[in-house]
Amino acid sequence: MSAENDFNQIIVAASMLACDFSEVGNEAKRAETAGSDWLHLDVMDGNFVDNISFGPAFVAATAASSTLPVDVHLMILRPDHYFSRFVDHADNITVHVEAQHDVAKTVSAIREAGCTAGLALNPATPFSAVEPYLGMIDLLLVMTVVPGFGGQSFMVETMQKVEAAVEYRKRHGLAYHIQVDGGIQAATAPVAIASGANVLVAGTAVFGKPDMAAAVQALR
Ligand code: DX5
Ligand code: ZN
Repeated sequence: MSAENDFNQIIVAASMLACDFSEVGNEAKRAETAGSDWLHLDVMDGNFVDNISFGPAFVAATAASSTLPVDVHLMILRPDHYFSRFVDHADNITVHVEAQHDVAKTVSAIREAGCTAGLALNPATPFSAVEPYLGMIDLLLVMTVVPGFGGQSFMVETMQKVEAAVEYRKRHGLAYHIQVDGGIQAATAPVAIASGANVLVAGTAVFGKPDMAAAVQALR
């Protein structure tokens, strides 16, 4: 990841939050066969967000069932304390800038542990909150819904931050993916791509479709 043109390729990350939990291994394989590029795993602790999803054992079971890169999104209050429980089963680990931790310390510890590091910001959080960290991350996650639940509607006003992230990356010669997460489907993916996002997280729009391969293709 070094030049701006590395980010022209669209990466589809299938969000396991929308899969059939009684068939997690098969669902991971189904996403892989359908042409997903990454598997996205939303870890929620009931504190940072108003929902509880799954923890390291579920992430490990997913990772063991597919060869795709595993992208762990920690929607938890203390990512500094818990990220190490995920490093053996993750390629990327994303933490929130709004959580209770020393952000710079956590992202560098994630990298030292051998994963790439992502930083996420909620719809209500201004772009300026992540600016101090953009030189030390591999991925910026611009939340396109208030996190906690799948199946919500895409918030188009968050695209201003995607555009700001593209502009900042160029101006400072940086290299981070720009990921969007929440309400991504065939109608909203082109909006996110046009704004400059290159990693699309999609749950409902892919797992909810009988022809998952066509659903993945429809996002690119
Ligand atoms: C939202 C999660 C998302 C969610 C997206 O809290 O971070 O990853 O799985 O779900 P859809 O694609 O259904 O909006
Ligand atoms: Zn997510």
